[in-house]
Amino acid sequence: MTKNWLNYFQDILEKQKKANLFRELKDFKQGQDLYLHIQNKKLLNLASNNYLGLHKHPLLKQKSQELLDTYGTTAGASPLVSGRFQEVLELENTLARFKKTEKSLIFTSGYTANLGILSSLADSRTIVFSDKLNHASIVDGILLSRAKLVRYRHLDMEHLAWSLEKYKDHPRKIIVSDSIFSMDGDIAPLNTLVQLKKEYAALLMLDEAHATGIFGRGRGLAHHLKLEQEVDIHMGTFSKALASLGGYVCASKPIISFLINKARSFIYSTFLPPAVIGANLAVLNLLEQNPGLGERLLSLAHNLRRFLQELGFDTGNSSTQIIPVILKDPEKTLRAQKFLEEKNIFVPAIRPPTVPENTSRLRISLRLDLQDREMEQIQEAFKELKKVLC
Ligand SMILES: Cc1ncc(COP(=O)(O)O)c(C=O)c1O
Repeated sequence: MTKNWLNYFQDILEKQKKANLFRELKDFKQGQDLYLHIQNKKLLNLASNNYLGLHKHPLLKQKSQELLDTYGTTAGASPLVSGRFQEVLELENTLARFKKTEKSLIFTSGYTANLGILSSLADSRTIVFSDKLNHASIVDGILLSRAKLVRYRHLDMEHLAWSLEKYKDHPRKIIVSDSIFSMDGDIAPLNTLVQLKKEYAALLMLDEAHATGIFGRGRGLAHHLKLEQEVDIHMGTFSKALASLGGYVCASKPIISFLINKARSFIYSTFLPPAVIGANLAVLNLLEQNPGLGERLLSLAHNLRRFLQELGFDTGNSSTQIIPVILKDPEKTLRAQKFLEEKNIFVPAIRPPTVPENTSRLRISLRLDLQDREMEQIQEAFKELKKVLC
């Protein structure tokens, strides 16, 4: 490497460090379990998106093992070549039935799903209206499409309506929003999004990554609000509450067919391995048999949020299993993370650029396998944290 490049890397990293924004990989063990291990310390895990704690469920492991035994370790090719086996078709059909759409399509991750959907449905003659706090994969998909990106203020439907009005004569418009925002745990105003998409003849795409498994008997926010028929593109992932891997899109036949033909992250990538497809099939079955899992988690979250608010913590507009504790300053947030680690609880500090400047926060991801004694431990630790931060 030349000295030029070395200096360039070192400069940027030095700036990150000075701003308390430097990131380092930690050596986690069992980062998906209720307790994880870092440097020989066992910590209660409030960092994972494994919200329902289903990762060791016997039915998921059994189906995963069954497909591993039948097909081996790899899909061997991209889906249009030879990577799509019988159970993938079964998964697509089960998912479409579960989400009540005509068709579905599976991608290798939620990230590649968003990349593929947006970069193919939109082009330089499309305008995409996107909530300012939408997930990075949505933003990247739009950038890749070369569409005009119009960002509206977070959850601000007046701003969205104003922006749509400005471009009302434009023939191709897409509105895209997370249904639950990953760093804030707040909820998109889906009723108004639907109203606006109809008024301005736009396509509506909803990213249900954090609502899948939790809201609407596991089907997501659109189902919870009985608006599933109004959303044109339901996107989600198996990687969070569903304890596996793989992005999905559920939509009408023409949209799915369009994606099969145009979505480059679908066409040009080796498909998910059989073991993953097995877990995905099993988890959908499990959700159909146990529709109340998400509700129970939301009730746990409601109680903890109220407790934190009574202590005087700012939990933003969260009303889900994701609870931010907004401390604003990145250094203070890192200090809070460290304090909680000393209390044997791991809650990650989230800082810019993942969240906007001056909104650094602890991000609590609640999970269904937490027992009463652990909830008490969390409450006790935050009580003490409050005293230390004052
Ligand atoms: C809102 C949202 N969409 C998409 C993704 C990407 O999903 P995956 O982790 O399956 O790639 C995430 C994950 O962080 C997310 O939070």
